[in-house]
Amino acid sequence: MDDRAHWPTREEVLRLAEEHVCPDRVRTLTGLHADLVIGRREGYRMWDLDGRELLDLHLNGGTFNLGHRHPALVEELRVALDRLDIGNHHFPSAERALLAEQLVALTPGMRYAVFGSGGGEAVDLALKSARRATGRNRVVSATGGYHGHTGLALAAGDERAAAAFGSAGAPGEFVHVPFNDAAAVEAACAAGDVAAVILETVPATVGFVPPQPGYLAEVEAVCHRHGTALVLDEVQTGLGRTGPLWAFERHGVQPHAVITAKGLSGGLYPISATLLDDWLGGWLEDDGWGHVSTFGGAELGCPVARRVLDLTTDPATVEHVESLVALFADGLADLRRRHPEWLLEVRQTGLVIGLRFAHPQGGMLMTGALLTAGVWAIYAGFDPSCLQFKPGLLLGVDEARAALAALDTACAQVGGAVAGG
Ligand SMILES: Cc1ncc(COP(=O)(O)O)c(C=O)c1O
Repeated sequence: MDDRAHWPTREEVLRLAEEHVCPDRVRTLTGLHADLVIGRREGYRMWDLDGRELLDLHLNGGTFNLGHRHPALVEELRVALDRLDIGNHHFPSAERALLAEQLVALTPGMRYAVFGSGGGEAVDLALKSARRATGRNRVVSATGGYHGHTGLALAAGDERAAAAFGSAGAPGEFVHVPFNDAAAVEAACAAGDVAAVILETVPATVGFVPPQPGYLAEVEAVCHRHGTALVLDEVQTGLGRTGPLWAFERHGVQPHAVITAKGLSGGLYPISATLLDDWLGGWLEDDGWGHVSTFGGAELGCPVARRVLDLTTDPATVEHVESLVALFADGLADLRRRHPEWLLEVRQTGLVIGLRFAHPQGGMLMTGALLTAGVWAIYAGFDPSCLQFKPGLLLGVDEARAALAALDTACAQVGGAVAGG
């Protein structure tokens, strides 16, 4: 029986969520006037249960890179449901094998794809693999980095988040160094006891600070010097968001492991992958059950992910992304000229964009003002002066212009209010 007519109202959903799911989150979002309950969603638009229309410029960190419910992806899943289920993770599967072949072919230097259901799980697997390959256990990561909330991923991310759960590791096990400081990575690795350096290619949660020219190459050299694995977390920056399929390709470096998640799912079926080179994946040759994940690479998600890769690498998509990158570069430069006292910095790496404002909570204030202007984009969690602004790969030119216009309106409103005290 279809009981959607009896679905709870927006107020009932908020009450139930506050009671049973995530009380503090509901209260915080309500305080920010961002207590949305999303109903219909199509393309880059979504509607809350009150019918308010929003243009999605957050995309859940890139989960909806290709838009919400892309018709070709919905069709892949529909067809898959006629013949597949999760699959049995003990046996080889055509769906997983074909997806692995495609991912490895598209990712320089990689040999193996190990599937998970989320990004944190994929990060954990990369760090476990580095520990196993090196026989070491120390991990170096960037202060303000974010790699998920599972075990090793949590410890590699913000120290406070891990400490709250008693998961920060033994003293010295997880070392945090400033991003864009290769000398700090060298100092941390110099004793030759570090298993892995893990970095987001462009760290999201501090507002997409781009790597300085040469930084990643220097980190790569440090890793080579000390027998340390270089793991790049491309959960937010991969899948065509910066131009090439992976952001690291812009820097001419060769990691030992690459993490992809979020957008690989097409926003429809959870799936992630840890891509490993010969060295880090060596254990797969002699320990078949060294890592298992019941839902990792669930067969229903594989055809969707393959289609995601096809659509993402389609020359027409790549060309469209190039034109969007230019459109946003021009539009944001214009906004800088129009609001020089408020919009202090535009950090643009392709369609991965961070905006820094002249107030410690500037990004947070902009989140609220943009909502009023019909755009959903969220501030950077570890630096609320910044806003994460993430246009989708297939965003229409008119939608891109509308997003820039909303940003202009929000800058005028918030910047003016802040300047006026
Ligand atoms: C860069 C990065 N890595 C890893 C993760 C963790 O992914 P998941 O939430 O699927 O575990 C995220 C999620 O936001 C992320 O942004």
